[in-house]
Amino acid sequence: MTRRPLPHRKRQLATTVLSVALAVVLVSCGTGTNTADLTSKAPIPAPQQTAPASPAASTSSSPAANPSTSRSPSQSPTPAAKKPKPKPPPAPSQYRDPTRLNVVVNKNRPLEPLTFAPSALTVPRVPLATAPGAAKLRPDAAAALESMFAAAAANGIELTMVSGYRSYQDQAATYNHWVAVHGSQQRADGVSARPGYSEHQTGLAFDVGQLNGACTLQPCFRDTPAGQWMDEHAHRYGYIKRYPSGQTHVTGFQPESWHFRYVGLDISADMHSRSIATLEAYLGLPAAPTY
Ligand code: DAL
Ligand code: ZN
Repeated sequence: MTRRPLPHRKRQLATTVLSVALAVVLVSCGTGTNTADLTSKAPIPAPQQTAPASPAASTSSSPAANPSTSRSPSQSPTPAAKKPKPKPPPAPSQYRDPTRLNVVVNKNRPLEPLTFAPSALTVPRVPLATAPGAAKLRPDAAAALESMFAAAAANGIELTMVSGYRSYQDQAATYNHWVAVHGSQQRADGVSARPGYSEHQTGLAFDVGQLNGACTLQPCFRDTPAGQWMDEHAHRYGYIKRYPSGQTHVTGFQPESWHFRYVGLDISADMHSRSIATLEAYLGLPAAPTY
């Protein structure tokens, strides 16, 4: 069969159809370009960041917020359009292990078991304002305390250890003492933990004082040179002030500028650099104002 030559306009149309067909084949073969790119000599833009750093970053990079970077509907949605998954809340069992530095003991989280006792305890070699038997700590907490007291002494600040580990029975006696002093459980609950609910029972907490004894276990300790020094430096030795002022609604206790808890340097430094006041807030746990 012989072909007759096409008229000029029909030849033009055939050429155009062939070009478009070739472009479609190139795209579907995965060249990485799209039909818009085929019409442009401009370089292919670099891929956008795969995940926004924060919800705020996600908003500001959305097409609506920044029309100059908006994409045509024919283009695939960018990963930036995906919302970051919210952090799942910690399982109730988390931060419960009393042998770990991140254990949280508060009015909602008793020691498990209630009569827990650390496997090793030692008396730090520092000035004591109590009997050695009442000044024990876990060895890691004791070593950090010794370094901290030495650093304070080098700065001319004389610290003393007022109280350390307390067993379940010791805490029961301490709590009953404060019930007697204050005349009711309700008032004692603001200053003393019930047995099985005290950080002192972990071997990771201690009460600090000044060597001269002034303001021991009193609110005025906060404004003493020793109180000020501890405020500024404790985080460098793995300690946090556990019951800061303004946080009673979270901790359930009146401010205790003398009660420090060893959490290890990772946590203490991170809390300090992020200005997070309580362990509950840091670990995403609920407040524990009451039992
Ligand atoms: N004074 C603190 C809250 C305790 O008894 O553990
Ligand atoms: Zn204490």
